[in-house]
Amino acid sequence: MSLVTTKEMLLKAQKEGYAVGAFNVENMEMVQAIIAAAEEVKAPVIIQTTPGTLKYADTDMFYGMVSAVAKKSSVPVALHLDHGNSYELAARALRSGYTSIMIDGSKLPFEENVAVTVKTVEMAHAMGVPVEGELGTVGGKEDTHEVKDTEKSYTDPEEAKEYAERTGVDILAVGIGNSHGFYKGVPELRFDILEKTRNLVSVPIVLHGASGIPDEDVKKATGLGICKVNFATELRDAFSKGVKEYLSEDPDVYDPKKYNKVGRDRVKALVLHKMEVLNCVGKA
Ligand code: 13P
Repeated sequence: MSLVTTKEMLLKAQKEGYAVGAFNVENMEMVQAIIAAAEEVKAPVIIQTTPGTLKYADTDMFYGMVSAVAKKSSVPVALHLDHGNSYELAARALRSGYTSIMIDGSKLPFEENVAVTVKTVEMAHAMGVPVEGELGTVGGKEDTHEVKDTEKSYTDPEEAKEYAERTGVDILAVGIGNSHGFYKGVPELRFDILEKTRNLVSVPIVLHGASGIPDEDVKKATGLGICKVNFATELRDAFSKGVKEYLSEDPDVYDPKKYNKVGRDRVKALVLHKMEVLNCVGKA
């Protein structure tokens, strides 16, 4: 089917108490793997690209790949701009056909975050596309987006309520001790902050930085109202390990189809597991 927006997809997840996986892609094989997994277990799915990924290949390229695979699939697929770092990039993604936009002003002072979010919401809503905003910062490094430990901050639930009401965002990302990239040690999520935020904010809430968060904690967060969970690092790692293993066993191979297929299979297996954890199997 044609790409859908994240709006109805996440409202349904919120109502029925499961989360939709939002998986970052870097190439065609990852796109194929994720949609094949979603198709196999009849799950809705979100494919997303960061600004760093979009420097490698642009929004038109990813739109082309994702929409082509989605068209042949029977499950709802949304294409989301992850951590959009400017109004201009959000406009480019919309023009290409992205069906969901994140504007990340979380490192800005509150009023500036509100201002850039309002502007982006106005533009995206005029095109019928929902917007994810962020309040409180997710630590760690996601491609070019880095939040140092000294800059990492938890979401203030009262501020989140004000931010959601003033901006009109459709989806809210929170900082509850989560970080991008692999964790050093076991992450300690502040479920109390999540609960308070959930009680004050009505829009679907997102958990970023899910690579390395134990499955039980992801399930607990979903039970407390998280409707979208973002995975990037573990997918990149699975793809790369598959390719490296193949190449080390057969160093003379020169056909990219051979080793990329192994990377693709690894990503599909990982996504199938994450979909079980998120309880979105059969929810398409
Ligand atoms: P991880 O790389 O930690 O999985 O984070 C993904 C993410 O939150 C993308 O926005």
